[in-house]
Amino acid sequence: MTNVVVVGSQWGDEGKGKIVDWLSEQADVVVRFQGGHNAGHTLVVGGVTYKLSLLPSGVVRPGKMSVIGNGVVLDPQALVDEIARLAAQGVAIGPDRLRIAETTPLILPLHRELDALREGTNSGTRIGTTRRGIGPAYEDKVGRRAIRLVDLSAPDDLPAKVERLLTHHNLIRRGLGMEEVDPKALVAELLAIAPKVLPFMDRVWQLLDKARREGRKILFEGAQGALLDVDHGTYPYVTSSNTVAGSAAAGTGIGPGGLDYVLGITKAYTTRVGEGPFPTELTDEIGQTLGSKGHEFGVVTGRPRRCGWFDAVLVRQTVHTCGIHGIALTKLDVLDGFKELKVCTAYEVDGKKIDYLPAETGAQARAKPIYETMEGWSQSTQGARSWADLPAEAVKYVRRVEELIGCPVAVLSTSPERDDTILVHNPFEA
Ligand code: GDP
Ligand code: IMO
Ligand code: MG
Repeated sequence: MTNVVVVGSQWGDEGKGKIVDWLSEQADVVVRFQGGHNAGHTLVVGGVTYKLSLLPSGVVRPGKMSVIGNGVVLDPQALVDEIARLAAQGVAIGPDRLRIAETTPLILPLHRELDALREGTNSGTRIGTTRRGIGPAYEDKVGRRAIRLVDLSAPDDLPAKVERLLTHHNLIRRGLGMEEVDPKALVAELLAIAPKVLPFMDRVWQLLDKARREGRKILFEGAQGALLDVDHGTYPYVTSSNTVAGSAAAGTGIGPGGLDYVLGITKAYTTRVGEGPFPTELTDEIGQTLGSKGHEFGVVTGRPRRCGWFDAVLVRQTVHTCGIHGIALTKLDVLDGFKELKVCTAYEVDGKKIDYLPAETGAQARAKPIYETMEGWSQSTQGARSWADLPAEAVKYVRRVEELIGCPVAVLSTSPERDDTILVHNPFEA
């Protein structure tokens, strides 16, 4: 029996959604454990595209249980809207298929407003967030004043909890010249949405424990990527949660022994959305070609993603911070047709060669990539479904990536379509 944790090994958008959907054929339960609707996961199944933000990427397969763990921050309205969008695509999601942890903190409109205000006015300190209220909601969780899903089931106690939250927020809002939030109106708003979300509420720690004992396979789906981790990423240009694999335990209540295999989803080149250091970024024609061939536009915000060469230093570091056993290398097909390809193997920072990402923001910004150049390939790898279909140079590229990051390729992806995927080692049987 093996449970698998899927994490992004770069700055997000590595293709986690596609791989989780593909792997979920073998899983019984698919669980989100951090982040919120800042995530944007695209699945393409038989030509039909599904875009998911909050719901686990196993939802489109009938018969699978989807779970949202306590480590997620949940915007109840966004959940209701996403369920409605999927229903319009013929995917019906009821409480029999989706369970949400009681202790999940809620994202409220005041979080979204604060996020947008900080991002809009303070250009010098802009993070380039998705403006979904993720950061402010996590701040309230850690500040011990969040409203959690279970609070909606105790209406008599809700006004006191809202009061506690607003004591903090209205102080900030007054300072920023924003209109104060009326406690009565917020309580009414919460009680209005309660009947739409409470039917999904569950003791997720118990549900997962039971599933584990019954020998059911659990797939943990990370959002964002390890370099957006609030501790291990390019701070402060990060998201507000721990995105590393260890977070799957705390974010669901399963305990670290329940996490068997870590699959790091890794794009064959590098992208990033929002502000922050990006040593291998290409602002030239090559970067634009990667962006247009790879359709590198954010699912959530529509922003163009910054593109650059594969950075083996970063992924090698992520292999350690996440305990990655194998990677799923995605978007290899986007590299088709390049005469030569570059891979970053080390950095030069202030005249010194280093083989890790420096922790200090200024040093990260000054890190100059040291490249190795490899021969490209002219044949198409798009849609390849077997290793034998790959040109020799593509195989060489994959092998060199494995060597540089110190980790084997378990899965290879060659198009957005679910089945255009090559299995090298099965994570569930490792
Ligand atoms: P996620 O956030 O990690 O789930 O990734 P996104 O869905 O935000 O971005 C990945 C994009 O690449 C999506 O549009 C996918 O449909 C697409 N994609 C995934 N795997 C491949 C692949 O192997 N080749 C190509 N060309 N596109 C892919
Ligand atoms: P998926 O799951 C890429 C980035 C934002 C911003 C920073 C903080 O699709 O890979 P936030 O709204 O979280 O406070 O923004 O994190 N970011 C992502 N970048 N993919 C994501 O998710 C992201 N979620 C957040 O662009 O730089
Ligand atoms: Mg995405």
